[in-house]
Amino acid sequence: MSQPIIDVQKLTATYGPVTALNGVNLTVNKGEIFGLLGPNGAGKSTLLACVEGLHNPKNGSVHVNGVDVQADSASTKSQLGIQLQKTALLDDLTVAELVEVYAALYEVYLNSEQIDALLTRFDLLEKRNTLSRRLSGGQQQRLALAVAIANDPQIVLLDEPTSALDPHARRAVWDMIRELHNEGRTIVLTTHAMEEAEALCGRIAIIDRGQVVSCDTPAALISSLKLNAMLKATVELPLEQVRTLPDVNNARYTGQHLEVETARPEVTLTALHELAARSGRSISDVMLRQPNLEDVFLKLTGHALAESNPSA
Ligand SMILES: Nc1ncnc2c1ncn2[C@@H]1O[C@H](COP(=O)(O)OP(=O)(O)O)[C@@H](O)[C@H]1O
Ligand SMILES: [Mg+2]
Repeated sequence: MSQPIIDVQKLTATYGPVTALNGVNLTVNKGEIFGLLGPNGAGKSTLLACVEGLHNPKNGSVHVNGVDVQADSASTKSQLGIQLQKTALLDDLTVAELVEVYAALYEVYLNSEQIDALLTRFDLLEKRNTLSRRLSGGQQQRLALAVAIANDPQIVLLDEPTSALDPHARRAVWDMIRELHNEGRTIVLTTHAMEEAEALCGRIAIIDRGQVVSCDTPAALISSLKLNAMLKATVELPLEQVRTLPDVNNARYTGQHLEVETARPEVTLTALHELAARSGRSISDVMLRQPNLEDVFLKLTGHALAESNPSA
């Protein structure tokens, strides 16, 4: 097997008394879109910061293309394009000036045609003379992507690239990330949204409380746990009663919807109707869905991934 492009071994990172990462091992291969999926506080940003050489781990190591980040962060940094979770884009520069300044930080000096070409591909050309603080959320995220690849890096690290975007702006950013990948770049992104991980990533590390609890393709993560189909319905019933119905493995509420994991949906649905009738309730919007990464997360960690996604 070829050498991983990013190799994280036994990584532990702390902030004073807080342990943010606790013995993380993972490898990212050249050319993949790799996702770090976990709730807020899981340690995703800290993990990227260790790869970027912006946080010194307490223990363990990170290698980028075989080079130890702690030993030679100047060399590893030059291979990375970085989008921080809170991109503090200098507010009083125009879009074109920002791209120029960020590229220059990597000793890449772009002329105005090169800047315009970069802005064009992120659909920002008409904003070239606009101050960055006047951009919409989607435009700011696209600018952050443009800035992240201003030095033409082979590896692009994106920390929550679409958080707080509306669905349309989010899809535009997804398309741009796919394009960066199609050019042969390796992408590592963090997200707390399972649909984003599922839509973009070839492999995913599920992170919870500073540890990688599982790592594989989305399909393998889902199939490995042998989860049953989920019966979804709008009805208000006590969960402890639903859990005693035939063939039910688990039940929970997501928003208004009751979700029931069941090996035999038709048997469970009949029993659910009977329970509802006895309780004087009605059931509507019944559907069956296949298990997803949210179910995997719940099964592996015992708690839900979603604090609700602000853009949903
Ligand atoms: N600068 C900091 N000082 C103190 N604690 C921090 C700091 N940054 C992160 N943490 C803590 O480290 C843990 C992991 O945080 P973080 O890596 O930001 O998680 P995520 O990106 O998954 O939300 C959390 O408990 C968080 O509160
Ligand atoms: Mg974060």
